[in-house]
Amino acid sequence: MVRKAIIPAAGYGTRTLPITKVLPKEMLPICGRPALDFIVEEAIKSGIEQILIVVSRSKNMILDYYDRSVELETYLEEKDKTHLLKEITLPDVHFQYVRQSYARGLGDAILLGKHFVGNEPFAVLLPDEIILPHEKQPLKQLIDMYNEYQGNTVGVKQLELDQLKNYGVIKPELLKSKEYIMKDIVEKPQESPPSDLAVIGRYIFDPAIFNYLENLKPGLGGEIQLTDAIKEMAKDYTSYGLEIEGMCFDIAKTSEYVELINYICGPRGKHQP
Ligand code: UTP
Repeated sequence: MVRKAIIPAAGYGTRTLPITKVLPKEMLPICGRPALDFIVEEAIKSGIEQILIVVSRSKNMILDYYDRSVELETYLEEKDKTHLLKEITLPDVHFQYVRQSYARGLGDAILLGKHFVGNEPFAVLLPDEIILPHEKQPLKQLIDMYNEYQGNTVGVKQLELDQLKNYGVIKPELLKSKEYIMKDIVEKPQESPPSDLAVIGRYIFDPAIFNYLENLKPGLGGEIQLTDAIKEMAKDYTSYGLEIEGMCFDIAKTSEYVELINYICGPRGKHQP
């Protein structure tokens, strides 16, 4: 059973500067809610009971957001605004935090979750990729596939050729509709991507991934790359890819961030909060 999830949120958010100098990318507002909260909701609705958020020195706002504010609660009660208390109700999940002292890369951030995870399969959700589900939650789709095949499973989506160089791209072998064996994975292929299926920030891992992460040397950009550990492990254990059903928005891209806000709460918004 997949009960635990890691959300890495310790990066510098350089693509979204200058605002991310003071506001974590994960806390960018989407119709009054921080982006991270959409990810937490997806995790909970997918059956996750414990979440480890990897933070850094400048991300205390994340801890504050998921803590009670007794003064605010008292204020709302005193001012007869108790109907607003539901806006600050905490999600029904157990949070833990770990600090990454220097942003050495996504692989390094996930490795910090080794003790939290123990000996269970676990999920990783990247908080800058928001996926609005058609029906089943994106993470639940992956968990269901993991339960069937019992191997590392990554969420993918089809992208145009010119976009693939910004993502991890898998070399797939079709199992059945939208389900693949992942024969290989390449981080940000600058030419000849192995397919048009890009990794979109949702993963289920066996705990053995930590052995591979521990043995990694810095890869692309001098960072400890999660993709490199996935690639090495795929040589020893059958690993899988699943085309996730849902609408994906990368909030680090201004156009997709605006599109998401319009989609949710714009004048013709489909999901009024
Ligand atoms: P990104 O590469 O998208 O985020 O990593 P970033 O590094 O913050 O942003 P840019 O590329 O400089 O614009 C995906 C997720 O992994 C986290 C980030 O916080 C983000 O949520 N991350 C990345 C870490 O926690 N630690 C790292 O060392 C790197």
